[in-house]
Amino acid sequence: MKIAVCPGSFDPVTSGHLDVIERGARLFGKVVVGVFEKTGKTPLFSLNKRVNFIESAIKENLCLNNVEVESFNTLLIDFAHKHGACAIIKGLRAVSDFEHEFQMAQFNRKLDPSIETIFMMASSQYAYLSSSAVKEIAKFGGRIEGLVTPEVEKGLRKVFEL
Ligand code: PNS
Repeated sequence: MKIAVCPGSFDPVTSGHLDVIERGARLFGKVVVGVFEKTGKTPLFSLNKRVNFIESAIKENLCLNNVEVESFNTLLIDFAHKHGACAIIKGLRAVSDFEHEFQMAQFNRKLDPSIETIFMMASSQYAYLSSSAVKEIAKFGGRIEGLVTPEVEKGLRKVFEL
């Protein structure tokens, strides 16, 4: 069975992330979503919350039974080895994503050339969607319906006391 990992900070998971996870789950026997514990800045949601949001979206919204969610705080390549993955799935939105993603893919290839990074072009309706944009819109009381799951929407409303 071919296994892929799909890593990210997921602070919080968006409909764009879920779209990539769902499409990845059609291509691979199993997809392990890796929630990176350490992010550059302090995350809005705890690691547990970020994992739980994805787990319930996978069960309740996407109904996928070949996707698992796990946090990690190591090199991504080591997380991929741990799960016997042959690929890393990443979503690619606008050109602005490219340079950073290209660099990470090169580093990961240097660390283990046998693990392939696969980029999925974001679906057009999510091409400009990001966790940061969702947080900013939510913070100022804007509508985020459809951009995240209802559970994440509720979580954001609670954080920003809306
Ligand atoms: O959602 P993000 O913030 O773009 O995800 C970034 C992530 C978690 C994929 C990246 O930071 C990562 O792979 N971190 C694990 C540590 C690692 O392997 N770093 C070297 C890759 S160049």
